[in-house]
Amino acid sequence: MTTTSTPEPQHHSTRVLAAAVEYIQGTKPGPPDIPRRRSYASEVNMRILVLHGVNLNMFGRRDPIQYGNATLAQIDSGLEALARELGITVECFQTNHEGEMVERIHKALDEEVQAVVINAGAWTHYSHAIADALAILKIPVVEVHMSNVHARESFRHNSVLSAVCTGSICGFGPASYLLGLRAARNAVIHMNK
Ligand code: DQA
Repeated sequence: MTTTSTPEPQHHSTRVLAAAVEYIQGTKPGPPDIPRRRSYASEVNMRILVLHGVNLNMFGRRDPIQYGNATLAQIDSGLEALARELGITVECFQTNHEGEMVERIHKALDEEVQAVVINAGAWTHYSHAIADALAILKIPVVEVHMSNVHARESFRHNSVLSAVCTGSICGFGPASYLLGLRAARNAVIHMNK
């Protein structure tokens, strides 16, 4: 008599965890439990806009304790390298002019942009104009900060942008941007904003 051995059934949580690891690594579409709005194929032409606000062109010359030594050009090259690895396109834009930032956000409405990553610098803490512009977008928006804003002066603890963003990442230096790009890509694939 022959017996066929059936594989040990995997516990549900083990399967979900394994899928989540692949999801975070960007190698799989995502845990089966996470609803997907778009097809995985939509990644092929995925374009993500990265917005840098006021004073961020000065990275590399600002307080190294808060911001390290990387320049904005180096941060952008890191984002472009990650985008190539993920098979997506990234466009980076910086301005010190609030109205120009608002207009760049408006322009994104008419472009093939699937998500936005934004570090609005000090505007984060008071620009309702930028918050209103972001609120018009129907795509995922990820807020990022190099420094841990919650461990700094109290005026940095509040973000007027967070409520119109899909989520926020802060405190990881240039890696905040890389995590933000991954989060934005994952949000396009898996989420409904
Ligand atoms: C910042 C934090 C803001 O509070 C500050 O005004 C900046 C940079 C960051 O990346 O940590 O300019 O957004």
